[in-house]
Amino acid sequence: MQKKDSEGTLVAVMIDEESRAKQKALHEDEKVIPTEPVPIWNVAHRGASGHAPEHTIEGYRMGGTMLGDFIEVDLQMTKDGVLVAMHDERVDRTTNGTGLVKDFTLEELKKLDAGSWFNDMYPHKAQPHYVGLTVPTLEEIIQEFGTDERYYIETKEPGIYPGMEEELIRVLEKYKLIGKDPKESHVLIQSFSPESLQKLHDLNSIVPLVRLFTYFGIGTITDKELDEIDDYAVGIGANHNGIDEKYVRQVVDAGLMMHPYTVNTKDDMRKVIDWGVTGMFTNFPDLLRDVLKEYEEAS
Ligand code: G3P
Ligand code: CA
Repeated sequence: MQKKDSEGTLVAVMIDEESRAKQKALHEDEKVIPTEPVPIWNVAHRGASGHAPEHTIEGYRMGGTMLGDFIEVDLQMTKDGVLVAMHDERVDRTTNGTGLVKDFTLEELKKLDAGSWFNDMYPHKAQPHYVGLTVPTLEEIIQEFGTDERYYIETKEPGIYPGMEEELIRVLEKYKLIGKDPKESHVLIQSFSPESLQKLHDLNSIVPLVRLFTYFGIGTITDKELDEIDDYAVGIGANHNGIDEKYVRQVVDAGLMMHPYTVNTKDDMRKVIDWGVTGMFTNFPDLLRDVLKEYEEAS
């Protein structure tokens, strides 16, 4: 289950710069400037998707059990306007069906098997109970985990789903999951689409938002771009192999959170922590939990 303090509030592992520096010294010879301790969020990418079928209740449950601070939920929308958890625009990769999510009603989508593909692809991790898992709706996920979990939700393909943002805010408001302070909010919303983020911001000005980027090569960002992002968002997510320490420091110094994706080895986790990130997406929240423990013990 999630880590909670004595008052039952969800908490993340806090890493101060001294422990970061001590650990970093083990990996390389540089030093970092001490600052206030910051939480390092362990985001279970598509659930604990290195261990169980992505975007299933089973995978999300495992993400929480492995001490993920957030479960990441990619959203698509059915023909009848229901938000469902799926990474791809098509159902083909992660179910036994074929076609676009937008062409399925929820009833039709629910007939698909969203677990067997995992057993076929990863026989060494296969489990009989993954067979027949269904595609969960956003509401089903929230009803299953309530406020025991935090949700890091992504609007996928917002251009092909008119009304997606309105429906998302309606659901999150219904379950009272939105808080202004990202440290308190039970939800963060991320998107590669600045238009989708702007729409969300206009619908609910306090929901914490994260702007996603993909870089080919090592990305750069200007202070002007950071200022613009700061107007509506609390953080940035980017592929970890498309950023470097300079990028991370620039983002964090601008007062924004920096969450690279998708960091799946302990060496890469240590690398980005040493750069100063404030969390990361991983398919293996158990590995990140172990790495964060190293840093905690060094403090
Ligand atoms: O949101 C971070 C990461 O999930 C973005 O990549 O393709 O896995 O949704 P993707
Ligand atoms: Ca995602």
